[in-house]
Amino acid sequence: MEKIRIVGGRPLEGTVRISGAKNASLPEVCAALLTGQPVVLHNVPEVRDIRTMGHVLSDFGADVQFRVGGTVEITAAELTSVEATYDLVKTMRASVLVLGPLVARARQARVSLPGGCAIGARPINLHLQALEKLGASIRMASGYVEAQADRLRGAEVAFDTVTVTGTENVMMAASLADGETIIRNAAQEPEVSDLADLLVKMGARIQGAGGSTIRIEGVSSLHGAEHRVIPDRIETGTFVAACAIAGGDIEVRNCHPAHLRAVIDKLRETGIRIEEGPDNLRVRAPRTMRSSDVTTVPYPGFPTDMQAQYMALMTQAAGTSTITETIFENRYMHVAELQRMGADIRIDGRTAIVSGHTPLSGAQLMATDLRASACLLLAALAARGETVVDRVYHLDRGYYRIDEKLRGLGADIERIDQGGGRRATDAVPAVEA
Ligand code: EPZ
Repeated sequence: MEKIRIVGGRPLEGTVRISGAKNASLPEVCAALLTGQPVVLHNVPEVRDIRTMGHVLSDFGADVQFRVGGTVEITAAELTSVEATYDLVKTMRASVLVLGPLVARARQARVSLPGGCAIGARPINLHLQALEKLGASIRMASGYVEAQADRLRGAEVAFDTVTVTGTENVMMAASLADGETIIRNAAQEPEVSDLADLLVKMGARIQGAGGSTIRIEGVSSLHGAEHRVIPDRIETGTFVAACAIAGGDIEVRNCHPAHLRAVIDKLRETGIRIEEGPDNLRVRAPRTMRSSDVTTVPYPGFPTDMQAQYMALMTQAAGTSTITETIFENRYMHVAELQRMGADIRIDGRTAIVSGHTPLSGAQLMATDLRASACLLLAALAARGETVVDRVYHLDRGYYRIDEKLRGLGADIERIDQGGGRRATDAVPAVEA
């Protein structure tokens, strides 16, 4: 199993290019199931979750071609299967995104229940209730969701909890339903809007994506399209945080600052200097960061996917800060690892109380989930001495070669194998989440 070794204390300098958004690419790859014509996506990050989704679609009989430079071409001309097996779904819960497209295109789907993951139970009840509203019949059998619908019909779907993939599943299914669907309390994340942009290019009729009410007028069929995926706002925020905690002065290219408004505003409050361009950021670390409280909420608020990274920062800020996680019930797996480095953090229910400015020492650490892994890398950049992070396959799910990108900015970081030898990034085993 691969590890990443970091020796802390080096400031970051130079330029980093942001990859395409993992959480836009995943639903957009699934959207290709809605048509028999080719869908070509550019700027897709070559991360493990995308490869996994490619395997899921290939199992349905789709032709999935990964081309050089982040282009993926998917042609689902004939669907020979509608079953997403447990073996694949257990490695990536985003596989639930095939549900809506399969029911809409093939009138049926058999998708393994994803089960929980490190950050919470993450049920899919809201997805299923919404698809039933659209006329699908849903039953559970042996850990699988079995959905059927002769014809989906438009309906009003009001989510009592904002759900990103739930909104995406309904938007895709409703695109081929009879009549109008209205989604209320829809997720407003940029990835939802980007999916809507692709669906409209495919011939769907969608209005209001990016807001809390989305209207979809179903059509009889969709055609192929070509689309460039938006930049990854969480990778962008992660590199801004990396510069803040390590010190230094970096340029972040190929990003979309408007998608990080809440993150940029919060980081500026801590004293980090951030200059915005149309598709780039200049980030300069302050001598000492100020502490500032944060609560994670759905977009456009501060994103839960930046919570762990922000916590690493606050261990180095002057003063005490509170971090409240309102989206997932167990997204503090990184706290114990940070405490082993010397961080002073106390958990009180959904709130973490972080006392800065606490020197961190390098340690042997274990990654538990995608964003917790990024948090540990950030902490290691600021820690005294050497840190080795194990189970970095979690990191590779959502960050394309983050160790190489950080090394390109001057960090003392390298990927090693079990024996301690240096490894290239590519050898990433497909493993359970
Ligand atoms: C998406 O997950 C993202 N993943 C997550 O990113 C992100 O953290 C999350 O949205 C919140 O922004 C992808 O887009 C592939 P939700 P999703 O449905 O859609 C509860 C990362 O690090 N809920 O918005 O699965 C749920 O338990 C990942 O890139 C139900 O109760 O999240 C949670 O408490 C991690 N029933 C809340 O809603 C449901 O049917 C929000 O979850 C669905 C969700």
